[in-house]
Amino acid sequence: MEIINSVSEMQQRMLAARAQGKTISFVPTMGFLHQGHLSLLHEGRGRGDLLVLSIFVNPTQFGPNEDFDSYPRDLQRDLDLAQTTGVDIVFTPDASQMYPSGSATTVSVAELTSNLCGASRPGHFDGVTTVVNKLFNIVLPHVALFGMKDFQQLAVIRKMVVDLNMPVEVVGMPIVREADGLAMSSRNSYLSADLRQQGLALIAAVRAACGAAAAGETDAQQLIAQVEQIIIAQSDARIDYIQICHDLTLQDMTLVDEHAVLLLAVKFGATRLIDNHYLLQPVVS
Ligand code: PAF
Repeated sequence: MEIINSVSEMQQRMLAARAQGKTISFVPTMGFLHQGHLSLLHEGRGRGDLLVLSIFVNPTQFGPNEDFDSYPRDLQRDLDLAQTTGVDIVFTPDASQMYPSGSATTVSVAELTSNLCGASRPGHFDGVTTVVNKLFNIVLPHVALFGMKDFQQLAVIRKMVVDLNMPVEVVGMPIVREADGLAMSSRNSYLSADLRQQGLALIAAVRAACGAAAAGETDAQQLIAQVEQIIIAQSDARIDYIQICHDLTLQDMTLVDEHAVLLLAVKFGATRLIDNHYLLQPVVS
């Protein structure tokens, strides 16, 4: 497995691979890998000749009062996991490589970013789309894989790729959950045992709402009210949003149909967790 830190070296390496007719699968991450990331790598392994993983905690997608400094990092552990998952190249640039002084360009997707996390984390998606655009220009992937836990991120990246005619296939992969249903996230490592237990209210709420929708409830407000009751029963839960949105437009829906996705963002103490589920699809875990 190769480890490359330099943007120009990475780009040269990828241009050479393309010239040899190799297809490139790419999994961009901020590191602290968990089973969710590994599922992307497994899928990516089968979709390209070369599997590239990037590890870069991107400062521009964190707000001033967010957790950039404390975001969990463990490069050696990540490299060991990458090795066992069949990664060919790990790209680990530092911030001065990715954002040389004088950088003045931002990529911004309108509309899809105005709701949900876009409303509660101003500037977040500009940071994501800018860095993903840069990573695509450096790694030159044929296919790039993202997790569906960040449902809005995936929709925004798909839109960017279409709008900017980027020759990259974007693949979304299902949420991977712990045995008790908590969606895998690097941020779960912040949770105390008690807060982690409270965090299970997210999957309990997802199950309740999907159960009610399967039983015929179509009124989004009723479903949201039911979810809210489950969340606020937890002493340390602070709701950021509970919304039911159309999967393609991310606009709020009043009546549930097969496009309806329940999306939640809730703070448990200082840790913000997100989760989502299509309301009319069975909850498997
Ligand atoms: O989902 C993430 O880990 C990040 O938002 C991404 C896509 C790697 C961009 O920094």
